[in-house]
Amino acid sequence: MKQIPSPSGLPILGNTLQIPAHSPMAHFTELAGRYDEGLFQLDLLGRKVVFVYDPDMVAELCDETRFRKRIEPPLSIVRDFSGDGLFTAELDEPVWGQAHRILMPAFSQRSMKAYYPQMLEIAERLTASWAARQGEDLPVSDDMTRLTLDVISLTGFGYRFESFRSPELHPFLKAMGGALTEAMVRNQQLPVVTKLKRRSEETYRQDIATMRELVDDVIRRRRAEPSGGAKDLLGLMLEASDPLTGERLPDANIRDQVLTFLIAGHETTSGLLSFALYNLLRHPHTLAQAYDEVDRLLPGDEPPTYETIMKLDVIPRVLDETLRTWSPIPAFAVTALEDTTVGGYPFPAGTPAVIVLPALHRHPKAWERPEEFDIDRWLPERKQEQHPAGYKPFGNGERACIGRQFALTEARLTLAMLLRRFALSDPSAYRMQIKQTLTLKPEGFTLQVRERRPHE
Ligand code: HEM
Repeated sequence: MKQIPSPSGLPILGNTLQIPAHSPMAHFTELAGRYDEGLFQLDLLGRKVVFVYDPDMVAELCDETRFRKRIEPPLSIVRDFSGDGLFTAELDEPVWGQAHRILMPAFSQRSMKAYYPQMLEIAERLTASWAARQGEDLPVSDDMTRLTLDVISLTGFGYRFESFRSPELHPFLKAMGGALTEAMVRNQQLPVVTKLKRRSEETYRQDIATMRELVDDVIRRRRAEPSGGAKDLLGLMLEASDPLTGERLPDANIRDQVLTFLIAGHETTSGLLSFALYNLLRHPHTLAQAYDEVDRLLPGDEPPTYETIMKLDVIPRVLDETLRTWSPIPAFAVTALEDTTVGGYPFPAGTPAVIVLPALHRHPKAWERPEEFDIDRWLPERKQEQHPAGYKPFGNGERACIGRQFALTEARLTLAMLLRRFALSDPSAYRMQIKQTLTLKPEGFTLQVRERRPHE
């Protein structure tokens, strides 16, 4: 049997100390560049973890009869705050199935249409805020975070953060960033070291408490003002029962779900929008195509309808290609159910396998000229030729992202609104610098805007 390549490590610690605590993904991607075999193995404090990016092997890992998501580190650490919410629940915990069935209707096409007016309202806040700051350096990631946090909280829970009213980001975001970063650091730390770091433990517990207080406030407000059977996420969780078992979600689980959606529902879409704006500024020809599209489909000042947003073609391809080049969630993991092999390499039962998206999304077996940003890859005729497992920004199978359409609808609308109104520029010639807090974002990215005349 073939042997999985692996960099040498130290006794007990294995390869752990080689991984930079604040940018593990950059390290995994660099290792992927070193091992042409399409996979490598690391010893993380005695746990053997395989990192995979060959698309044929990823196709095998996506076979749910052989591999399933298991809650391993770092997700088992994130469970400290998201509990058995959808993202961090084990598949065989009954509450995962109940919540999944109860919440699926909230992600139908019909629901997207129902959320649309609220998405539009927040997108208009963003454009108003940028219109008032023309010629200034705009903090892209912060403003995309304001937008996506306000959208998920308003559409999902009827709760208003009013993020565009304040120059400071909401304390929830600082607590969330702190807790996610700490989860990432703990993933590479001996438990005894974690115990010794008392200050970090205190801050971590305080961050979790801050997030939970907010969640309790969201639920308390809804209970005080029941919405008469609203079909938003919170309405469904409080009022609907599981179509299979007839059971309602326990209160503790509803808290976990609210926190899960507050985090998963904004952090990633904010990254997607920030990377998309970066890509547009770097590719003037594509930017010109996108301006042209909004001038054609969204003439005048009328708010665009949901139907118009669904007719866009260039902007969705910008988003598809952005998710290929910079996946906000850069990896997801599955575990072998039984002893098996992948691409001829041994995978004993219980082996965790991490799918490394930056390397998969640039793998020459799946992509021609992978380093090139080319939205024409996503033209229908070329899409058909794609490798079936070469693109996985939303994960796989039953545990794939429930919010995919939500994110894409929100991102289409936001880009369309920005491009219709503003000419974008990047006078400081930003150089990409990734910040990782489990998800990826461009750090310190600013751009400038000025009002644009149509067909300019
Ligand atoms: C799961 C990516 C937006 C809610 C996932 C997974 C990925 C992902 C890769 C699978 C994780 C795994 O296998 O461990 C993304 C990206 C987004 C995005 C790239 C935006 C561009 C959203 C939004 C929501 C959301 C807007 C909610 C409104 C969730 C939830 C799960 C999930 C609840 C767990 C599903 C389950 O296991 O049942 N997402 N996501 N995501 N996502 Fe997203």
